[in-house]
Amino acid sequence: MDPKLYQRVNEVLEAVGGRWSRTAEAHLFPMGAAEAIAPVLAGGQVVTLREKRNQAQYFPTPPAVVNRLLEIAAINPGMEVLEPSAGSGAIAAAVADLGAVVDCFEQDPGCAGLLDGVSTIRTVRVADFLTVPATPAYDRVVMNPPFTRQADVAHVRHALGFLRPEGLLVAVMSGAVAYQNGPAAEFRKLVEERGGQAEMLPEKAFAASGTGVRTMVVTVPATRPADASPTVWPIREAEQADEPEFADPAQIARQIVADLRKATRAFEAVAKALEQATSKPAEAVSEPGVQLGFDEVA
Ligand SMILES: C[S@@+](CC[C@H](N)C(=O)[O-])C[C@H]1O[C@@H](n2cnc3c(N)ncnc32)[C@H](O)[C@@H]1O
Repeated sequence: MDPKLYQRVNEVLEAVGGRWSRTAEAHLFPMGAAEAIAPVLAGGQVVTLREKRNQAQYFPTPPAVVNRLLEIAAINPGMEVLEPSAGSGAIAAAVADLGAVVDCFEQDPGCAGLLDGVSTIRTVRVADFLTVPATPAYDRVVMNPPFTRQADVAHVRHALGFLRPEGLLVAVMSGAVAYQNGPAAEFRKLVEERGGQAEMLPEKAFAASGTGVRTMVVTVPATRPADASPTVWPIREAEQADEPEFADPAQIARQIVADLRKATRAFEAVAKALEQATSKPAEAVSEPGVQLGFDEVA
């Protein structure tokens, strides 16, 4: 196939869940390939992965992160679990595999179409989750929402309203939530009051999904446990490495004093040299080769 045409075909197949496998020498799909491609063939249109990333912050959770979420969420068979921004089901399908009863919301109809093909998931609704009225019906919420302009904070706050009193929310969030102002600061207060916890994920945790953004897992109980330990927010590593924007004023003053002393010594040396030169007979001053320069006296 012509490389440019191949690239376009690949984009379409990836947009509906296909991934090229070198071993299989084929695009593999999490469900029936014909089913996945049918809506594209019927509508003649597709939203590519690149467009989904830019418009809807579609960054599927890689398996290692999913495993960490599942460890923290401690899901038992039969638990009712909500995934409120489910993408193509990286988290939802893994939760359902543990025997939980999973409901999903997803704004993007293409992604929701992929989720519909996962038979172990109870319901998939195409909706803007932020407009769905909260009902406290779930034992767990496990989620990785969009991050732009602190959207993760809005999504997680709204999702907390879906927990039963003994429920637990486990979310992937931007690492910036640990230090940002505004809604993030308010959110940190809420997490601290509830006895929640935060854990930084490795730097390249989402590299496979096409982003280097720093992420953390935040765990928030519906009700503060009696034995809750204080919340410890991950340190902003980049900030530690940064040079301070303004130096210490005392250090600046010391530097100015040292520079002035150096300049004074230089001027004194010039003055002395001039004095010596003017005290000599006139012909000696105009002697060729006698030059006075700042380099010599400084
Ligand atoms: C970072 S991706 C994660 C997808 C999935 N949770 C996962 O872990 O693989 C965020 C997802 O949220 C969806 N999304 C964005 N805004 C949404 C909204 N207001 N309501 C529901 N889903 C939304 C996007 O379409 C995208 O699939």
